[in-house]
Amino acid sequence: MNWETLPNYGVLSDRAAEIFLEAILRNPRVVLGLPTGRTPVTMYERVVAACGRKYHCFSDVVTFNLDEYVGIERTHPGSYYTFMKQHLFKFIDIDPANANLPNGAAPDLDAECARYEREIAATGGLDLTFLGLGSNGHIAFNEPGTPFDSRTRVVTLTDSTRAANASLFPNGRVPTHAITMGIATILESKSIVLLASGEKKQAAIERLRSGEISEEFPASALWRHPDVTVLTA
Ligand code: GLP
Repeated sequence: MNWETLPNYGVLSDRAAEIFLEAILRNPRVVLGLPTGRTPVTMYERVVAACGRKYHCFSDVVTFNLDEYVGIERTHPGSYYTFMKQHLFKFIDIDPANANLPNGAAPDLDAECARYEREIAATGGLDLTFLGLGSNGHIAFNEPGTPFDSRTRVVTLTDSTRAANASLFPNGRVPTHAITMGIATILESKSIVLLASGEKKQAAIERLRSGEISEEFPASALWRHPDVTVLTA
């Protein structure tokens, strides 16, 4: 695991955006796994600033978001689809058909999870995936206790995760369930970059740094992957 400790959140975002943009330059057809949450917001801002529509950066890029709430339409203001549109997709030239999120409003959620896995596999798999870190060590919506061999599925969100995400959700009433990529799905990404910043993440960062691998601490699965960069500030 490659650790980079940056002086502050702005520099962390610069570094994350640099890795993001280099990946597109190296391979214009790169397949990216993308996170939501507060942590990646400035990374997306930097990517948009460097790579507005005129540069055609994203014309062949494929993206797969890590997760989406269940029971709301993608146009709902609290959906991760809306988040991605507001922070990235509306500013760049990505083909909407290449910007994938699970559909949390699908009538058959298990079929939707299977479809999402198939779509990822059909592109040849994730090349580079960015992750945030929950203060309880969750990655995407894989809460403590998630088996490391888990794949895309419907999960029940813990009260603490719902509370942590309430400020990003209009009216604060965060859905109780989500579709998330599993830990095994994430670990199949060729490279992974984890972003963690701020006081609230310090304990989780230290636990990750300790090297102890346990399903009670989902991020620790990343120790089993050969190409992980952790950016902390
Ligand atoms: C949510 C997301 C995760 C994200 C986490 C941390 O639970 N599903 O993917 O990493 O929040 O979010 P934040 O960056 O806002 O602290």
